[in-house]
Amino acid sequence: MKLSVIGCGYLGAVHAAAMASIGHEVVGVDVDQRKIDALSKGEAPFFEPGLQEILAAGIEAGNLRFTTDMAEAAGAEVHFVGVGTPQQKDGYAADLTYVNAAVDGLLPYLAEGDIVAGKSTVPVGTAAGLAPRVSETGATLVWNPEFLREGWAVKDTLDPDRLVAGVPASAEGERAADILREVYAPAVAKGTPFLVVDLPTAELVKVSANAFLATKISFINAMAEIAEATGADVSKLAEAIGYDERIGRQFLKAGIGFGGGCLPKDIRAFSARAEELGRGESVAFLRQVDEINMRRRDRAVQLVVEGLDGAVFEKKVTVLGAAFKPHSDDIRDSPALDVAVRLHGLGANVTVTDPAAIENARRIHPQLTYVEDRDEAIRNADALVLVTEWDEYRRQLPPEHASSLTDGRVVVDGRNGLDAAAWRAAGWAYYGMGRP
Ligand code: UGA
Repeated sequence: MKLSVIGCGYLGAVHAAAMASIGHEVVGVDVDQRKIDALSKGEAPFFEPGLQEILAAGIEAGNLRFTTDMAEAAGAEVHFVGVGTPQQKDGYAADLTYVNAAVDGLLPYLAEGDIVAGKSTVPVGTAAGLAPRVSETGATLVWNPEFLREGWAVKDTLDPDRLVAGVPASAEGERAADILREVYAPAVAKGTPFLVVDLPTAELVKVSANAFLATKISFINAMAEIAEATGADVSKLAEAIGYDERIGRQFLKAGIGFGGGCLPKDIRAFSARAEELGRGESVAFLRQVDEINMRRRDRAVQLVVEGLDGAVFEKKVTVLGAAFKPHSDDIRDSPALDVAVRLHGLGANVTVTDPAAIENARRIHPQLTYVEDRDEAIRNADALVLVTEWDEYRRQLPPEHASSLTDGRVVVDGRNGLDAAAWRAAGWAYYGMGRP
């Protein structure tokens, strides 16, 4: 099938390359010339395992191309819209500028029978607002939310847990659902659940999934706070409650909390939208989810101060990680970088290292010192703070090796990713999150 993908960021670039990898003819459109230049050469403009390979393969095979010219979307049967919906500068609501611009920019190139499939995460009701403009061209607007995780984006796109098609209740809607089934034929053939729902349900599925995940993380982080007050161990607690299948073990990792370009802004946009709908109280708990999450960053900073006996000024603190999570170079709302910046604000001599995110981090926080080589970063540190659980800092950093690089013996484990007993046995003062 001929497809267009409007917006080539973490979502769109992966979607375009993944769709080409299953045989579609795909054109990706973005306003950012630099991004398009890189993608056109088959180079991934950001770190995402597996993307480079399918991107290069699609370019090489000739069924994947990228352009800044929206006119080249003309002729595609399905136009996916995967532009960003960041938090507004002066409030909690989502900024829909890019979604509106993408859809309006597409209108002149739509033909009778085309499908416009929104993938961006939007406040419920957005699709209903856009639909009349799309309908005037003879095309149909549907919402097809995306559930990919950064770091697993290629796998999640090609082999998702479920597919959701939000369509209008009409013959065009039914036809659009059939066309989406065809787009995702390999996944559908594998038995991936394919849910056809109405537009508001599709929009809500996405935001409620992220709200649930954020709540799960803040729940366990709230338990970490209680554990800290009682001497309990939240890691063991999570393991024990996680054996109950109704609770499950995933997303119960206590630490410095969630960040990234999705969960934080999505729960805020959800609160803002609920207020607009007069249902603010239904999701009032999301404010607390957000507050608990932010408090954990304070806690990590507090532990470093405690570990250094209250005197962080001019102490060398090495921050292991900058990305909001491992296997990503994304630093949007990164708890890791936030901890680094706060320590810098307290006068510590902060050195940040990360296998993938240094370039992005340096652009936003040039005041910090960045060292690419992990061991160089650790050398002579007074304290180490693990904030992004890359394997390089967990499994592949034996405490004895760290001891050989520095005389400092303070380690704060902001992700509860280290073997506390092993670090203690090697002479380190180990501080976990919600662990004794
Ligand atoms: C999230 C959702 O997981 C995806 O399903 C969704 O498609 C995506 O947002 C989106 O809206 O596009 P992502 O932002 O890539 O994906 O990251 P997650 O894997 O959800 O992690 C989010 C944050 O939570 C990270 O900072 C991570 O370190 C933190 N986290 C995760 C915890 O602190 N504890 C956990 O147990 C799990």
